[in-house]
Amino acid sequence: MKSLMIQGAKILATGSAVPSSSFSNNEISKVVDTSDAWITTRTGIKERRLLKGVDKSIIDLAVLASKKALDKILMDPSQIDLIILATSSPNDLFGSASKIQYEIGAINAVAFDLTAACSGFVLSLVTASQFLQTGVYRNILIVGADVLSKWVDWSDRGTCILFGDAAGAAILQSCSSIDNSILGFQLNSDGNYSKHLSIAYEHNIVPHSELNLYQGSFKHISMNGKEVYKFAVFQVPLSILKCLNSLNMSVDQVDWLVLHQANERILTAIAEKLSISSNKVIANLHKYGNTSAASIPLALDEAIQDNKISHNDIVVIAGFGAGLTWGTIIIRW
Ligand code: UT7
Repeated sequence: MKSLMIQGAKILATGSAVPSSSFSNNEISKVVDTSDAWITTRTGIKERRLLKGVDKSIIDLAVLASKKALDKILMDPSQIDLIILATSSPNDLFGSASKIQYEIGAINAVAFDLTAACSGFVLSLVTASQFLQTGVYRNILIVGADVLSKWVDWSDRGTCILFGDAAGAAILQSCSSIDNSILGFQLNSDGNYSKHLSIAYEHNIVPHSELNLYQGSFKHISMNGKEVYKFAVFQVPLSILKCLNSLNMSVDQVDWLVLHQANERILTAIAEKLSISSNKVIANLHKYGNTSAASIPLALDEAIQDNKISHNDIVVIAGFGAGLTWGTIIIRW
């Protein structure tokens, strides 16, 4: 993918936030017919964090993650030009990004939501880098946040065991093209398979039948796990290889693989297909489950805090999920 690059873009800082309340596999087995052994073997997940309380929303997690990222570099929020919130669980269908903008005091920023489910953070990173590399903006805050605990069917053991709530943030800044660290990306969608993972809208006719109007509400998450699994293991390695090839890079040059944290078996299968050692795979889903748009920035933030990722490391980030949408972005850290 060729882009008009006037200047470079780099990630300055990351931050993340999870609810304090954890929910173990043993606890979930009191809600649905499952077991710690089944969930651990099939997914690698041991526990997840759930946002509890009627007054708590995605905004609380997103604001906390954003403030942590800002604090790390002592950046004044007024310096932020753009905020992108990747989420599929806003607390307002018109968008939640502007509430983050208000709460963190980013008085000069424009803010909008981006909906691409579990690929949302990758798409936000690409979108932000375009605004930076074309010289439009200097500082951008991107946040991946989801509270899918509010959207799962808590009687469906095929899905409710998977998801957790979290937010992860990153601050990007423009720089000279020599220092550009967002090296390339590769993005895809195939709406033909959207039926395999969705939160569908269900409508009923409104009482005044002469209006011939339908109104309704969203249902719970429905997923064909096997199809999504096959899709991820087949398509994600291809996307990563295409992206590496476009940069004339080889798999051997990859230092870290940060994949959407959906299922440990998916992470292992993708790494094996690419012949990337498991030591290079960042994984924290045993603690948080699948946190949708938050999973990549949460994993990235933890890896940075653990001093795993070093200056100049090649980090391959790939997201996949509902849409179906999937893609890769390659960063020189
Ligand atoms: O972020 C979006 C991306 N989403 C994903 O990446 C999800 C991808 N898919 C998966 O991770 C896996 O498909 C799951 C973990 C969701 C399911 O694992 P699976 O190995 O594909 O299991 P399955 O759906 O084929 O079910 C196997 C058996 C079934 O029983 P029978 O028909 O063999 O008797 C299920 O009813 O396991 C049963 N089962 C469970 N048993 C205990 C399904 N869920 C559970 C459960 N506990 N929670």
